Amino acid sequence: MASDLTGGVKLERGREVLRPDIPQSFRRTFALDVLEGLSQKPKRIAPVYLYDEIGSMLFQQITTLEEYYLTQCEQEILTLHMEEIYKSLSRQSFNLIELGAGDGRKTVLLIDHFIKKSLDFEYITLDISPESINGLSLMLEEMFRPARLKVTGIIAEYFDGLKWLAERSSSRNLILFLGSNIGNFEYAKAQKFLRHLWDCLKPDDQLLIGFDLKKDIEVLNRAYNDSGGITREFNMNLLDRINRELGGDFDRGKFQYYSGYDVTTGAVESYLVSTERQEVFIRNLNKIFLFDAWEPIHTESSYKYLESEIACLAAETGFQVEKDFFDSNRYFVDSLWRVQKPGAAIASCSAECL
Ligand code: AVJ
Repeated sequence: MASDLTGGVKLERGREVLRPDIPQSFRRTFALDVLEGLSQKPKRIAPVYLYDEIGSMLFQQITTLEEYYLTQCEQEILTLHMEEIYKSLSRQSFNLIELGAGDGRKTVLLIDHFIKKSLDFEYITLDISPESINGLSLMLEEMFRPARLKVTGIIAEYFDGLKWLAERSSSRNLILFLGSNIGNFEYAKAQKFLRHLWDCLKPDDQLLIGFDLKKDIEVLNRAYNDSGGITREFNMNLLDRINRELGGDFDRGKFQYYSGYDVTTGAVESYLVSTERQEVFIRNLNKIFLFDAWEPIHTESSYKYLESEIACLAAETGFQVEKDFFDSNRYFVDSLWRVQKPGAAIASCSAECL
């Protein structure tokens, strides 16, 4: 029954969606990625795996931390510039499509304003995590029921979901990709991601995308080394997750969390470092992994941008920057882009670009 699949949430189109045996295949992908990542040098595990149920809860806590300025800044941006953001949107009806919405606090700000302005839109949230889709769509549907907002949840990979949608809706799209989610991609991967996104969209569709800006290094480092140790816990949970889901025997007491801004990569790089020479057995992989003393596992890169880099990224991937919205410290930017196609040639990187 659809209601079982969706946890009792009424998902209009969402309940038809592509969501067969995700948990199963997910765990297999996780196992394979851990096997591959821990066999590499340097060892690494992709940051998507930080977000199991506990990890998502810890990340949600991170976003409320004083030191983690990113969320506060973006909330300030949306509050300060909401009217201007609204004015930059086309008046026709549109799909408001959010990629990786998180807890929806920022989403609520936008939806609330758009409803007050009587914009004609429906909200669609796209995510690979059923928990996050169910929770968020339920909350928004309830919250905006008086306004009869249509809320749809789609449990799928971003591009699968977008293509699925493109076949079913001819409305214009406004894509939200907030929170510096793009920051986990290195520059070339960000280009690839945005080109793929461009390919899924129609001419004149818009994208509101959040970037964390390069800034004072102490501010950057504090954001990933909070005094309450939540970010450390967020990373350590990855070891626990491997123990829980893959039958690992990681002892987190033998690992140290290290995170710091690398001025050459332009990213805050996060690691779990083995504090001694040790062997870790992972039952489901039937494999022992050897860690040398002080050997790191890379868990995340959080890329920081210059305004000029953002402009290049847009131009190179087929978007026109319409407007940049900053917080009062200029720590963060939500950049509003418009899809350009066809006709206008996509700029290749000129001298001003990277
Ligand atoms: C969700 C990827 C934007 O890189 O700042 C927060 C994740 N990691 N604290 C970021 C994160 C540690 C976050 N992003």
